[in-house]
Amino acid sequence: MSEQVKILVGTMTGTAELVASEIAEVLEDRGADAEIVLMDDLSADVFEPASAYIVCTSTYGQGDVPDNARILLESLKSDRPDLSAIRYGVFALGDMTYAQTFCFGGRQFDEILQELGARRIGEPEEHDASSGSLPEDEAATWTEDWYELYTASAEAVG
Ligand SMILES: Cc1cc2nc3c(=O)[nH]c(=O)nc-3n(C[C@H](O)[C@H](O)[C@H](O)COP(=O)(O)O)c2cc1C
Repeated sequence: MSEQVKILVGTMTGTAELVASEIAEVLEDRGADAEIVLMDDLSADVFEPASAYIVCTSTYGQGDVPDNARILLESLKSDRPDLSAIRYGVFALGDMTYAQTFCFGGRQFDEILQELGARRIGEPEEHDASSGSLPEDEAATWTEDWYELYTASAEAVG
């Protein structure tokens, strides 16, 4: 059976969704079953035991998550489900022009998922829009590494 990975997208103007398409393409090339899900209207129960997720989100305001990600973040903080049976990765989009709150959207998700016991695979990637590099290019390389670590961790779990 192929590995299933859900890519949860928090976005204001669609860049994170574009990045999610690139992530999905890389995962599918490697034989995984990738599904892109916009965070709109999702709550903490989107996280199912023994599943894998990539949180792909931008940052707005004073280091806030995008509007479409707010309910999901709040739901995780208030419901506090036990997520020890899930594994995840984070691809955060931000801009170093906002140095004080760089990629805080992705960091907020990483923090709460860790708090709830979820197991992060690899390091979060933080794309800087002011760097001149394209987030989808960075995402392709990051996803290749992430998936390798993910499959290795799946073998370790059995
Ligand atoms: C009004 C505004 C506020 C932003 N605030 C932040 C911020 O606090 N921290 C950060 O790292 N990036 C910030 N950004 C940069 C976006 O997160 C970045 O451009 C991202 O690629 C947008 O992705 P999206 O189209 O998926 O929403 C801000 C961008 C705008 C337009």
